[in-house]
Amino acid sequence: MQHATLRARHEDEAQFATDRLQAGAELAAGLARPQASISPKYFYDAQGSKLFEAICALDEYYPTRTEYEIFRQHGAAIAEAVGQGATLIDLGAGNCEKAASLLGILRPRSYVPVDISTAFLNKVVAPLRQAFPGLPIHPVGTDFSESLTLPGFVQAQPHKLFFYPGSSLGNFGPLQAVRFLQNIREHGGDLLIGLDLVKDLGTVEAAYDDELGVTAAFNLNILRHANRILDADFALNDWAHHAFFNEAQSRIEMHLRARQGCRVTWPGGTRVFAEHETIHTENSYKFTVEFATEMLHRAGFTGLTYWTDPAKKFLVCHARAADA
Ligand code: AVI
Repeated sequence: MQHATLRARHEDEAQFATDRLQAGAELAAGLARPQASISPKYFYDAQGSKLFEAICALDEYYPTRTEYEIFRQHGAAIAEAVGQGATLIDLGAGNCEKAASLLGILRPRSYVPVDISTAFLNKVVAPLRQAFPGLPIHPVGTDFSESLTLPGFVQAQPHKLFFYPGSSLGNFGPLQAVRFLQNIREHGGDLLIGLDLVKDLGTVEAAYDDELGVTAAFNLNILRHANRILDADFALNDWAHHAFFNEAQSRIEMHLRARQGCRVTWPGGTRVFAEHETIHTENSYKFTVEFATEMLHRAGFTGLTYWTDPAKKFLVCHARAADA
Protein backbone atom coordinates (compact mmCIF):
# COMPACT_ATOMS: atom_id res chain seq x y z
CA MET A 1 0.00 0.00 0.00
CA GLN A 2 1.23 3.51 -0.83
CA HIS A 3 2.66 5.50 2.07
CA ALA A 4 0.22 8.36 1.42
CA THR A 5 -2.75 5.97 1.46
CA LEU A 6 -1.60 4.45 4.75
CA ARG A 7 -1.18 7.88 6.25
CA ALA A 8 -4.65 8.95 5.01
CA ARG A 9 -6.18 5.83 6.53
CA HIS A 10 -4.37 6.45 9.81
CA GLU A 11 -5.60 10.07 9.84
CA ASP A 12 -9.17 8.87 9.12
CA GLU A 13 -8.99 6.41 12.00
CA ALA A 14 -7.52 9.04 14.34
CA GLN A 15 -10.28 11.48 13.32
CA PHE A 16 -12.91 8.77 13.87
CA ALA A 17 -11.55 8.05 17.36
CA THR A 18 -11.54 11.78 18.24
CA ASP A 19 -15.09 12.24 16.91
CA ARG A 20 -16.24 9.25 18.95
CA LEU A 21 -14.62 10.58 22.13
CA GLN A 22 -16.26 13.97 21.62
CA ALA A 23 -19.64 12.40 20.88
CA GLY A 24 -19.32 10.18 23.98
CA ALA A 25 -18.55 13.21 26.17
CA GLU A 26 -21.53 15.09 24.71
CA LEU A 27 -23.86 12.13 25.29
CA ALA A 28 -22.63 11.62 28.89
CA ALA A 29 -23.14 15.35 29.65
CA GLY A 30 -26.70 15.25 28.24
CA LEU A 31 -27.60 12.17 30.27
CA ALA A 32 -26.32 13.77 33.49
CA ARG A 33 -28.56 16.89 33.21
CA PRO A 34 -31.62 17.13 35.51
CA GLN A 35 -33.79 16.81 32.38
CA ALA A 36 -31.75 14.15 30.59
CA SER A 37 -31.35 14.78 26.87
CA ILE A 38 -29.75 13.30 23.76
CA SER A 39 -29.15 15.60 20.77
CA PRO A 40 -31.36 14.75 17.76
CA LYS A 41 -28.24 14.52 15.58
CA TYR A 42 -27.77 11.04 17.09
CA PHE A 43 -30.96 9.85 15.37
CA TYR A 44 -29.12 9.56 12.09
CA ASP A 45 -26.99 6.43 12.15
CA ALA A 46 -27.49 4.08 9.16
CA GLN A 47 -30.64 2.55 10.69
CA GLY A 48 -32.00 5.93 11.82
CA SER A 49 -31.53 7.44 8.35
CA LYS A 50 -33.54 4.56 6.86
CA LEU A 51 -36.26 5.03 9.50
CA PHE A 52 -36.39 8.75 8.71
CA GLU A 53 -36.93 7.94 5.03
CA ALA A 54 -39.78 5.64 6.11
CA ILE A 55 -41.27 8.46 8.24
CA CYS A 56 -41.27 10.76 5.21
CA ALA A 57 -43.45 8.23 3.35
CA LEU A 58 -46.05 7.89 6.15
CA ASP A 59 -49.63 9.09 5.67
CA GLU A 60 -49.46 11.01 8.95
CA TYR A 61 -46.15 12.77 8.17
CA TYR A 62 -47.54 15.59 5.99
CA PRO A 63 -44.41 17.88 5.78
CA THR A 64 -42.53 15.95 3.07
CA ARG A 65 -45.37 15.43 0.62
CA THR A 66 -46.80 18.93 1.24
CA GLU A 67 -43.46 20.55 0.49
CA TYR A 68 -43.15 18.48 -2.73
CA GLU A 69 -46.68 19.58 -3.62
CA ILE A 70 -45.69 23.25 -3.19
CA PHE A 71 -42.62 22.69 -5.41
CA ARG A 72 -44.86 21.06 -8.04
CA GLN A 73 -47.58 23.71 -7.90
CA HIS A 74 -45.31 26.75 -7.74
CA GLY A 75 -42.11 25.50 -9.43
CA ALA A 76 -42.22 28.10 -12.22
CA ALA A 77 -42.74 31.01 -9.79
CA ILE A 78 -40.00 29.68 -7.50
CA ALA A 79 -37.62 29.40 -10.46
CA GLU A 80 -38.44 32.97 -11.50
CA ALA A 81 -37.78 34.31 -7.98
CA VAL A 82 -34.52 32.36 -7.68
CA GLY A 83 -33.14 33.16 -11.15
CA GLN A 84 -31.08 30.78 -13.30
CA GLY A 85 -27.41 29.95 -13.01
CA ALA A 86 -27.08 29.82 -9.23
CA THR A 87 -24.84 27.41 -7.35
CA LEU A 88 -27.37 25.33 -5.43
CA ILE A 89 -26.02 24.48 -1.96
CA ASP A 90 -28.21 21.77 -0.45
CA LEU A 91 -27.86 21.80 3.36
CA GLY A 92 -28.51 18.35 4.88
CA ALA A 93 -28.97 16.90 1.40
CA GLY A 94 -29.52 13.30 2.58
CA ASN A 95 -30.58 11.29 -0.46
CA CYS A 96 -30.67 14.51 -2.59
CA GLU A 97 -34.21 13.68 -3.76
CA LYS A 98 -35.74 17.05 -2.93
CA ALA A 99 -33.10 19.08 -4.75
CA ALA A 100 -33.20 16.59 -7.64
CA SER A 101 -36.92 17.33 -8.06
CA LEU A 102 -36.01 21.02 -8.60
CA LEU A 103 -32.85 20.75 -10.72
CA GLY A 104 -34.79 20.62 -14.00
CA ILE A 105 -36.71 23.80 -13.27
CA LEU A 106 -34.10 25.80 -11.31
CA ARG A 107 -31.33 25.04 -13.85
CA PRO A 108 -28.44 25.79 -11.46
CA ARG A 109 -24.89 26.29 -12.72
CA SER A 110 -23.63 23.68 -10.22
CA TYR A 111 -24.99 21.57 -7.36
CA VAL A 112 -23.28 21.25 -3.95
CA PRO A 113 -24.98 18.69 -1.68
CA VAL A 114 -23.77 19.09 1.91
CA ASP A 115 -24.24 16.37 4.51
CA ILE A 116 -22.43 14.80 7.42
CA SER A 117 -21.34 11.66 5.52
CA THR A 118 -19.12 12.06 2.44
CA ALA A 119 -19.26 8.33 1.72
CA PHE A 120 -23.08 8.36 1.66
CA LEU A 121 -23.14 11.51 -0.51
CA ASN A 122 -20.70 10.03 -3.03
CA LYS A 123 -23.02 7.04 -3.38
CA VAL A 124 -26.20 9.05 -3.88
CA VAL A 125 -24.76 11.54 -6.38
CA ALA A 126 -23.65 8.81 -8.83
CA PRO A 127 -27.13 8.39 -10.43
CA LEU A 128 -27.65 12.17 -10.33
CA ARG A 129 -24.50 12.66 -12.40
CA GLN A 130 -25.96 10.31 -15.00
CA ALA A 131 -29.36 12.02 -14.97
CA PHE A 132 -27.83 15.53 -15.25
CA PRO A 133 -24.63 14.98 -17.29
CA GLY A 134 -23.94 18.69 -17.89
CA LEU A 135 -24.28 19.69 -14.25
CA PRO A 136 -21.11 19.92 -12.11
CA ILE A 137 -21.83 18.22 -8.75
CA HIS A 138 -19.49 18.76 -5.79
CA PRO A 139 -20.48 16.80 -2.64
CA VAL A 140 -19.24 18.29 0.63
CA GLY A 141 -19.15 16.09 3.77
CA THR A 142 -19.34 18.23 6.89
CA ASP A 143 -21.32 18.61 10.13
CA PHE A 144 -22.75 22.13 9.84
CA SER A 145 -24.98 21.93 12.95
CA GLU A 146 -22.59 24.14 14.97
CA SER A 147 -21.21 26.29 12.18
CA LEU A 148 -21.22 26.18 8.39
CA THR A 149 -17.82 26.18 6.69
CA LEU A 150 -17.62 25.78 2.91
CA PRO A 151 -14.65 24.95 0.67
CA GLY A 152 -13.08 28.02 -0.95
CA PHE A 153 -14.25 27.18 -4.49
CA VAL A 154 -17.88 27.05 -3.29
CA GLN A 155 -17.48 30.22 -1.28
CA ALA A 156 -16.10 31.96 -4.41
CA GLN A 157 -19.22 31.25 -6.51
CA PRO A 158 -20.88 34.52 -7.58
CA HIS A 159 -24.52 33.50 -7.09
CA LYS A 160 -25.14 31.09 -4.23
CA LEU A 161 -28.56 29.71 -3.39
CA PHE A 162 -28.77 27.88 -0.07
CA PHE A 163 -31.51 25.23 -0.03
CA TYR A 164 -32.75 24.23 3.42
CA PRO A 165 -35.98 22.24 3.01
CA GLY A 166 -38.03 19.95 5.26
CA SER A 167 -38.38 22.39 8.17
CA SER A 168 -35.01 21.21 9.48
CA LEU A 169 -34.62 24.74 10.88
CA GLY A 170 -37.38 23.74 13.34
CA ASN A 171 -35.00 21.32 15.07
CA PHE A 172 -33.01 24.33 16.35
CA GLY A 173 -34.28 26.55 19.19
CA PRO A 174 -35.38 30.07 18.04
CA LEU A 175 -32.09 31.76 19.03
CA GLN A 176 -29.97 29.00 17.50
CA ALA A 177 -32.14 29.18 14.38
CA VAL A 178 -31.48 32.90 13.91
CA ARG A 179 -27.76 32.31 14.52
CA PHE A 180 -27.75 29.53 11.92
CA LEU A 181 -29.56 31.76 9.40
CA GLN A 182 -27.03 34.56 10.11
CA ASN A 183 -24.24 32.07 9.46
CA ILE A 184 -25.77 31.28 6.05
CA ARG A 185 -26.26 35.00 5.40
CA GLU A 186 -22.56 35.64 6.15
CA HIS A 187 -21.64 33.35 3.26
CA GLY A 188 -23.45 35.84 1.00
CA GLY A 189 -26.19 34.03 -0.82
CA ASP A 190 -29.93 33.72 -1.18
CA LEU A 191 -32.06 31.16 0.61
CA LEU A 192 -34.84 28.77 -0.36
CA ILE A 193 -36.24 27.32 2.85
CA GLY A 194 -39.15 25.06 3.83
CA LEU A 195 -40.89 25.62 7.19
CA ASP A 196 -43.67 23.70 8.92
CA LEU A 197 -46.62 25.91 9.92
CA VAL A 198 -48.67 25.93 13.15
CA LYS A 199 -51.84 23.90 12.65
CA ASP A 200 -54.47 21.86 14.52
CA LEU A 201 -53.17 19.70 17.32
CA GLY A 202 -54.49 16.39 15.95
CA THR A 203 -52.65 16.70 12.61
CA VAL A 204 -49.34 17.75 14.10
CA GLU A 205 -49.32 15.21 16.96
CA ALA A 206 -50.25 12.33 14.63
CA ALA A 207 -47.26 13.23 12.43
CA TYR A 208 -44.95 12.45 15.37
CA ASP A 209 -46.83 9.44 16.74
CA ASP A 210 -47.92 7.38 13.72
CA GLU A 211 -50.03 4.26 13.94
CA LEU A 212 -47.38 1.94 12.49
CA GLY A 213 -44.91 3.00 15.16
CA VAL A 214 -42.17 4.10 12.72
CA THR A 215 -41.53 7.33 14.62
CA ALA A 216 -41.42 5.33 17.87
CA ALA A 217 -38.79 3.01 16.33
CA PHE A 218 -36.85 6.07 15.08
CA ASN A 219 -36.91 7.60 18.57
CA LEU A 220 -35.89 4.36 20.33
CA ASN A 221 -33.09 3.73 17.84
CA ILE A 222 -31.24 6.73 19.33
CA LEU A 223 -30.59 4.55 22.41
CA ARG A 224 -29.02 1.83 20.26
CA HIS A 225 -26.76 4.49 18.73
CA ALA A 226 -25.93 5.89 22.21
CA ASN A 227 -25.07 2.35 23.39
CA ARG A 228 -22.58 2.02 20.51
CA ILE A 229 -20.91 5.41 20.91
CA LEU A 230 -20.86 5.58 24.70
CA ASP A 231 -20.65 1.87 25.40
CA ALA A 232 -23.81 2.33 27.52
CA ASP A 233 -26.30 -0.39 28.45
CA PHE A 234 -29.71 1.10 27.62
CA ALA A 235 -32.29 -1.72 27.45
CA LEU A 236 -34.68 -0.56 24.71
CA ASN A 237 -37.62 -2.41 26.30
CA ASP A 238 -37.39 -0.12 29.34
CA TRP A 239 -38.33 2.92 27.21
CA ALA A 240 -41.44 4.16 25.40
CA HIS A 241 -41.86 6.83 22.70
CA HIS A 242 -43.66 9.97 23.90
CA ALA A 243 -44.45 12.95 21.62
CA PHE A 244 -46.66 15.96 22.35
CA PHE A 245 -47.21 19.52 21.19
CA ASN A 246 -45.95 22.11 23.68
CA GLU A 247 -48.28 24.99 22.87
CA ALA A 248 -46.44 27.65 24.90
CA GLN A 249 -43.23 26.94 22.93
CA SER A 250 -44.97 26.14 19.64
CA ARG A 251 -43.04 22.91 19.27
CA ILE A 252 -43.43 19.16 19.16
CA GLU A 253 -41.31 17.56 21.85
CA MET A 254 -40.12 13.99 21.51
CA HIS A 255 -39.06 12.14 24.63
CA LEU A 256 -38.28 8.58 25.67
CA ARG A 257 -40.16 7.74 28.87
CA ALA A 258 -38.98 5.07 31.32
CA ARG A 259 -41.62 2.32 31.52
CA GLN A 260 -40.28 1.46 34.98
CA GLY A 261 -37.43 2.55 37.22
CA CYS A 262 -34.08 1.57 35.64
CA ARG A 263 -30.37 2.20 35.81
CA VAL A 264 -28.16 3.03 32.83
CA THR A 265 -24.39 2.67 33.05
CA TRP A 266 -21.50 3.66 30.80
CA PRO A 267 -17.72 3.82 31.38
CA GLY A 268 -17.25 6.60 33.93
CA GLY A 269 -20.93 7.22 34.65
CA THR A 270 -24.32 5.90 35.66
CA ARG A 271 -27.85 7.27 36.11
CA VAL A 272 -30.94 5.93 37.80
CA PHE A 273 -34.21 6.87 36.06
CA ALA A 274 -37.50 6.82 37.99
CA GLU A 275 -40.63 5.34 36.38
CA HIS A 276 -42.01 7.87 33.81
CA GLU A 277 -38.86 10.02 33.89
CA THR A 278 -37.92 11.10 30.37
CA ILE A 279 -34.97 11.68 28.09
CA HIS A 280 -35.67 14.64 25.78
CA THR A 281 -34.59 13.74 22.24
CA GLU A 282 -36.00 16.39 19.90
CA ASN A 283 -37.86 19.67 19.49
CA SER A 284 -39.58 20.41 16.21
CA TYR A 285 -40.77 24.02 16.14
CA LYS A 286 -43.85 24.99 14.15
CA PHE A 287 -43.89 28.50 12.68
CA THR A 288 -46.34 31.26 11.82
CA VAL A 289 -45.64 33.33 8.69
CA GLU A 290 -45.11 36.36 10.96
CA PHE A 291 -42.55 34.57 13.13
CA ALA A 292 -40.72 33.17 10.09
CA THR A 293 -40.57 36.69 8.60
CA GLU A 294 -39.20 38.13 11.85
CA MET A 295 -36.50 35.44 12.10
CA LEU A 296 -35.39 35.91 8.49
CA HIS A 297 -35.29 39.71 8.85
CA ARG A 298 -33.31 39.44 12.09
CA ALA A 299 -30.80 37.20 10.31
CA GLY A 300 -30.32 39.81 7.57
CA PHE A 301 -32.54 38.47 4.79
CA THR A 302 -34.88 40.65 2.79
CA GLY A 303 -37.21 40.53 -0.25
CA LEU A 304 -39.13 37.52 1.04
CA THR A 305 -41.50 35.60 -1.26
CA TYR A 306 -43.76 32.87 0.14
CA TRP A 307 -45.61 29.91 -1.31
CA THR A 308 -47.91 27.60 0.59
CA ASP A 309 -50.37 24.74 0.01
CA PRO A 310 -54.17 25.30 -0.04
CA ALA A 311 -54.55 23.98 3.56
CA LYS A 312 -51.62 26.20 4.71
CA LYS A 313 -49.78 23.32 6.32
CA PHE A 314 -46.31 24.17 5.07
CA LEU A 315 -44.42 27.21 3.81
CA VAL A 316 -41.68 27.61 1.22
CA CYS A 317 -39.84 30.92 1.29
CA HIS A 318 -37.25 32.57 -0.95
CA ALA A 319 -35.18 35.27 0.73
CA ARG A 320 -32.38 37.50 -0.52
CA ALA A 321 -29.29 38.32 1.48
CA ALA A 322 -29.57 42.02 2.38
CA ASP A 323 -26.54 44.07 1.29
CA ALA A 324 -24.03 44.10 4.16
C1 AVI B 1 -35.60 16.34 10.24
N1 AVI B 1 -36.70 17.02 10.94
C2 AVI B 1 -37.15 18.20 10.22
C3 AVI B 1 -37.82 16.10 11.30
C4 AVI B 1 -38.94 16.89 12.02
O1 AVI B 1 -40.09 16.77 11.60
O2 AVI B 1 -38.64 17.63 12.96
C5 AVI B 1 -37.34 14.99 12.18
C6 AVI B 1 -38.44 14.09 12.68
N2 AVI B 1 -38.62 13.72 13.92
C7 AVI B 1 -39.66 12.92 14.00
N3 AVI B 1 -40.21 12.81 12.82
C8 AVI B 1 -39.44 13.52 11.96
